[in-house]
Amino acid sequence: MAGKTRIEDMAVFGGSPIFAVAKSTSNLLQPDFARFMAHSDLFLQAQQYIDGGPAVELLERRLAEFHQTAHCVTFCSGFWALALAITALAIPGKREIIMPSLTYRRMPDIAAWLGLTPRFCEVETDTLAVSAATVAAQISDDTALILAPHPIVNCCDAQGLTQLAYERELPLLFDSVESVYESVAEGRVGGIGRAEAFSLHACKLINGFGGGYITTNDTALAQQLASLRHYGMDVNGNVTLPHGMNACLNEMHAAMALASLDDIESQVQRNRERYYTYRRRLVGVPGIRLLDFDERHATAYKNIVVELSDGWPLSREQTIRILNAEKILARAYYSPPLHRRPMDIASIPVQLPVTDWLAERFMNLPCGHLVSPQDIEQIVDILVFIAAQAQSIRARLLEQEQEGA
Ligand SMILES: Cc1ncc(COP(=O)(O)O)c(C=O)c1O
Repeated sequence: MAGKTRIEDMAVFGGSPIFAVAKSTSNLLQPDFARFMAHSDLFLQAQQYIDGGPAVELLERRLAEFHQTAHCVTFCSGFWALALAITALAIPGKREIIMPSLTYRRMPDIAAWLGLTPRFCEVETDTLAVSAATVAAQISDDTALILAPHPIVNCCDAQGLTQLAYERELPLLFDSVESVYESVAEGRVGGIGRAEAFSLHACKLINGFGGGYITTNDTALAQQLASLRHYGMDVNGNVTLPHGMNACLNEMHAAMALASLDDIESQVQRNRERYYTYRRRLVGVPGIRLLDFDERHATAYKNIVVELSDGWPLSREQTIRILNAEKILARAYYSPPLHRRPMDIASIPVQLPVTDWLAERFMNLPCGHLVSPQDIEQIVDILVFIAAQAQSIRARLLEQEQEGA
């Protein structure tokens, strides 16, 4: 461990942190500034800043091309992209929305905004993703829609889920927020489902400062979504749809997203180098298993997730505490799971033993634009150090906990 050879030097025990600036698990891409300015010039010249100006138009065209879909409709956030797509797709009169418990923490809030009730389902242990089997177990007479997020490493079984939705005559919406660049056997993510949702949040692959979009090949759905995000107005400016709102992406965000999209190939190459650095270094660390990307298909190598098995000498929470003190912002993977979170939002009561077990085991490690391969060497160095000094570290942590109690 660079500059630290004794446990007294660890930040959790009063030493200086390894990093002066925190290393996070967010992508935080900084695209080329000149490109951002060039794309901004589009709307500055046109003097149109909101409501589908030239940058938004260009972005929608380029994203549809990128995902090989007929349409892309942008929104002010991934949250509202999902919410308005559910509004358009959910079966009227039905109240339940099936979603995994091990996913994005605000997913139940989306259901709540729409007056729907989440019914959480299990994920598969090998993919951490929903499957036809885990979703089928939660289908009821009141199911309005299946919401299937791709996990943050690799993809869910899109084909199996599509088949299930078809057989049970249920709408299916993919949350593809973490799979912008990914492909599966059936093709590029974005064009597989009837509708797929993405985010342009700064922590995602395409940084638009914030924003979201839906891809679809369904022209009527694209028109409905474009209307819903714009006060429910039709092309003549008449309000014709209920539940319309202002959820448009603004032009400056679109310019940023365009600059990020310009950078996507080199970004994936940089992510690949980060992933391979982790992979090379973590091989010899006992009790830590890096989740591998499926390289048979396109992948952005974006997120670094590890499983801490019984061979790892500390609890995940102790490990995260130590790393966070060093300004390594490791996080528990989707924990607590949604069905365990105290919430105001009512959900259908379900038992999810597999999710309960998985929710204790995984951890996200720093990645993205501001994390260099040299940083990763230092991050793994401290994990190696923890493994070697585990007994003394555990004893010191226990003392600390008792003092604090
Ligand atoms: C899987 C997933 N879906 C949806 C969202 C919502 O996207 P946004 O932050 O753009 O509203 C997020 C955000 O982190 C996410 O991780």
